Amino acid sequence: MTYQTSERPRPTDLRNVNLADPSVHAELDLTQMWRRLRAEDPVLWHDHVPGQQGFWVVSRHADVMDAYRRPQDFGSAAGNVMDTLLHGGDSSSGRMLAVSDGEQHREVRRVVQRGFSAKMLDELGHSTRISTRKLVTEAVERGSCDFAKDVAARIPIALICQLLGVPEADSTYLMELANSAMGSDAPGQTLRDAQLAQSEILVYFTKHARQLRAAPGNDLVSMLVTSEIDGRPLPADVIVFNCYSLVLGGDETARLGMVGGLVALTEHPDQWKRFKDGDIPVELLVEEVMRWTTPAVHVARTALRDTELGGRRIAEGDVVTLWNTSANWDDAVFTAPEVFDGSRRPNRHVSFGFGPHFCVGAQLGRIELAALFEALRDEVSHVEVTGPIGRFYSNFLNGITSLPVELRR
Ligand code: HEM
Repeated sequence: MTYQTSERPRPTDLRNVNLADPSVHAELDLTQMWRRLRAEDPVLWHDHVPGQQGFWVVSRHADVMDAYRRPQDFGSAAGNVMDTLLHGGDSSSGRMLAVSDGEQHREVRRVVQRGFSAKMLDELGHSTRISTRKLVTEAVERGSCDFAKDVAARIPIALICQLLGVPEADSTYLMELANSAMGSDAPGQTLRDAQLAQSEILVYFTKHARQLRAAPGNDLVSMLVTSEIDGRPLPADVIVFNCYSLVLGGDETARLGMVGGLVALTEHPDQWKRFKDGDIPVELLVEEVMRWTTPAVHVARTALRDTELGGRRIAEGDVVTLWNTSANWDDAVFTAPEVFDGSRRPNRHVSFGFGPHFCVGAQLGRIELAALFEALRDEVSHVEVTGPIGRFYSNFLNGITSLPVELRR
């Protein structure tokens, strides 16, 4: 039996939907609602949920890009996702790249970026290609597996552990924490569960950074603990919070992209065939998978002054949510956005954000996805989804967390 993976109720009216509710993103297909919003109300005040603070919903590509480009008007320091902004702001404000603004952000970003040198990316790319191919080959030998858990889940965390100098033995523990910290594949998980997991990750990296300060290696954390800004070492909390953000930023996102990419290929056999025949370069396929899956569905900002966006007046202090998932399907920018086109070019998706907070791990993410699709292309001739899929419950990340498949050579 072949399972259809994409049939979900399709609301058309935002007033029937609470965008802050994780189950909305897991259980509904919002494509038609976004299309209507882009056409009729592209910058909309979302205040129809009793007891919930209102926020702006920005759905057009042009307006999303405009806000990304104006960090002086739309700041990140208070938080960069809706949940934290609707619940009093991010407690790591100013200590983590994604939730810092201005010079503070620029200085730390320069240091973190040194950890993503061409040499480091080469090394990580090499080991990822080897380990990914091994995972895929083993899955093919077994014949069936849960692709999300047995293959995709293992790739990003191994890579991030290598990047951060974390022993391989700790990677499963960190993966489980990252899972809980970002949301869940179970509808019942609470904010409290997520906060507990977040604290545990911080405790782990406090110890890890202390060990590497005493005996540095060639990894990014060793680089952070030995770096200085204006002659002063980076504060310990800045190091720990940024390790945390690299784990959370790079694990689930890439994993959801990988699983969504495989589903897209199974649902578009013509594209799978063209990719296998060498007609679609892997680099273009990766970009289209990023657009199609948009793992980070939104980012959020706070208006730092009274300003304007897409013709609407925004007041200082307002929460502004930028919906990458809608911008990536905007037909003002993408020809036939509802078509999965592995050779789409140009592909101006915003899946990695844009502007000063553009994903610092984008290159690494692309390397991982390319490694996976190349391994699938070379090792697998037939893929079939064989059971019900599980979806991620979050209003920030979207995708599939469980995908039973049969893989044949
Ligand atoms: C492949 C899937 C990935 C997706 C879809 C993704 C998505 C994003 C997005 C949308 C942003 C912008 C956030 C904002 O503007 O507020 C971002 C920033 C960031 N990403 Fe990624 N990311 C991915 C992979 C990674 C990886 C592999 C890492 C690290 C190993 C990483 C680490 C970060 C960090 C630290 C930031 C904050 C950068 C800053 O604020 O300067 N991401 N990512």
